[in-house]
Amino acid sequence: MSGAREVKRMTVPQFAARKGGEPLVCLTAYTAPMARLLDAGVDMLLVGDSLGMVIYGFDSTLPVTLDLMIAHGAAVVRHTKQALIVVDLPFGSYQASPAVAFEAAARVMAETGCAAVKLKGGVEMAETVAFLSQRGIPVMGHVGLTPQAVNALGGYRSRGRSDAESAKIRGDAKAVVEAGAFALVVEAVLEPLARALTAELPVPVIGIGGSPACDGQILVTDDMLGLFGAFTPRFVKRYAELGDAVTNAVAAYAADVRARSFPGPEHYFAAPKRPA
Ligand code: KIV
Repeated sequence: MSGAREVKRMTVPQFAARKGGEPLVCLTAYTAPMARLLDAGVDMLLVGDSLGMVIYGFDSTLPVTLDLMIAHGAAVVRHTKQALIVVDLPFGSYQASPAVAFEAAARVMAETGCAAVKLKGGVEMAETVAFLSQRGIPVMGHVGLTPQAVNALGGYRSRGRSDAESAKIRGDAKAVVEAGAFALVVEAVLEPLARALTAELPVPVIGIGGSPACDGQILVTDDMLGLFGAFTPRFVKRYAELGDAVTNAVAAYAADVRARSFPGPEHYFAAPKRPA
């Protein structure tokens, strides 16, 4: 028998139990290689619909389909062992009714093996959150800046700047959590609002452009690694410049190829020596 301890994947109840405890470390992952690299360092990986912009180069997250989320979700689950995996429900797959949302979420759960789904919205989605939660589908909510509503919101600016907007976000957060969400992502809201929501709500509040007081933080991995150059929101801290590393590596490769210094003898298969 090996003495190695079996690593267990974080569960939804374990994640929820971290409310008010050690901050939860969350990142996005869309592909097998990146999921493998991130798995041991985080508590949760989100297969976010941001993959539409980051991986597929769409202008928004709206064109992302359920099939796309399922393909990426399954790859991330297959190549991780430790992190809780949450998969976003894409635009159009859940808003029509609780029953429509259940069909989409059930497919995501069954075909990816993830532990939970995330959906965006507030009061208007509370019935759906309750419907899914009561039927065995853990739901993570998402309020504040909700990129699927970019057309209705009129852009990606931070939210909660007026008393009315702040009260609306507070009402949305409360409704989703009372409906059964086990955690809530709060995106791009003013710091005092994120802090207040963290203090008021009984579930982990995960900030992205929120507050250091939140129960956890999430970032889009490609943003924080310097791999997604299109636009860097204020709330992103760049922990590496992998985009520059890629550009430099490609330039070095191109120079080697042009100089015929690659492949070197260690990279090609020389003919075997024949006996004289
Ligand atoms: O889709 C996504 O990546 C997200 C995060 C920004 C929280 O929802």
